[in-house]
Amino acid sequence: MEILAIQNLKKSFGGKEILCGLNLSVPEHSIYGFIGKNGAGKTTAMKAILGLLKTDGGQICVMGEKVHFGQTRTNRHIGYLPDVPEFYPYMTPLEYLHFCGEISGMDQTDLATRSNELLELVGLGQENRRIKGFSRGMKQRLGIAQALLNRPKLLICDEPTSALDPVGRKEILDILLAAKEQTTILFSTHILSDVERICTEAAFLDNGRIVLQGTIAELRNMRQSDGFIIETEQKEKTLESLFLEVTK
Ligand SMILES: Nc1ncnc2c1ncn2[C@@H]1O[C@H](COP(=O)(O)OP(=O)(O)OP(=O)(O)O)[C@@H](O)[C@H]1O
Ligand SMILES: [Mg+2]
Repeated sequence: MEILAIQNLKKSFGGKEILCGLNLSVPEHSIYGFIGKNGAGKTTAMKAILGLLKTDGGQICVMGEKVHFGQTRTNRHIGYLPDVPEFYPYMTPLEYLHFCGEISGMDQTDLATRSNELLELVGLGQENRRIKGFSRGMKQRLGIAQALLNRPKLLICDEPTSALDPVGRKEILDILLAAKEQTTILFSTHILSDVERICTEAAFLDNGRIVLQGTIAELRNMRQSDGFIIETEQKEKTLESLFLEVTK
C-alpha cells in the first residue's frame, strides 16, 4: 500500500517555479530518502504534504486521503520533525513529551508508557536535565521521539542528520532504523552515504522534478550500467595520460 502519493505537484515563489510537476510514491514500511541539494525544494514539498503550503497544482494523498491546504485532518497519520526543531528550553524531555501528548488528547496512561518507551528508543531515557542544556543531536533525538508519540503511519524528518557530526548522524540513523518497525519514514537529506546506510528506496529531486527514483538496489544497478570499464595494454599509463593522447 502507498502511504504517500504525490502527483504533478507544482509550486512557484515570486514567479520562480520550485516544484514543476513532482511525482512521488512512498510504499508502506519503507525508509524513503528524499535527496536534493540546498534549495532543491525538499522542505517546500514537505510543507505541502503537511497542508501548510498553498500549492499551484497537483494532488497529494496520505493513506489514500487527499491533503487540503490549511486543513490538518490528514496530519493525524503524520509525525513531523522540522529541519530546526524548537522546544521549550525550561522543560525536561519527559515534561516535553507529556505536554505534547496532553495537547493532542492522548490517554494519560498510554502517554506515560509511550513517553518512557520513546525516550529509551532515542537514548534519552535517563536524561533529566532541561532541554536548554541539550546538544543539537540530543534535540534531534527528542524531536524524533515527539514525532513518534501519536504512533504515526508516516514519519517525516527534514534533514535530521545535516547539522550533526558522524557520531550524531549514526545515532539518528540507528534510531530511524529502529523506528522502521513502527512506521514508514520519509527523510530528506543531501548526504548520499546516509541514504545508502538505511534507506530501502530513494528519489532525487533536481530542478523541481524527480529525476531518479527506485529501490536502493535498482539505483545501484543504474549506476553500474552507466559506467565503463576501460582496459589498456599499457597498464602503467594513467587514465589521464590516455585521455590526453586520445584528445590530441
Ligand atoms: N516562503 C518562501 N518565499 C519565497 N521563496 C521561498 C519560500 N520558501 C522557499 N523558497 C525558495 O524555494 C526554494 C526551495 O526552498 P526549500 O527550502 O524547499 O529547499 P530545500 O531543498 O529544503 O533546501 P535546504 O537543503 O537548504 O533545506 C529556494 O530557492 C527558496 O529560496
Ligand atoms: Mg530544507
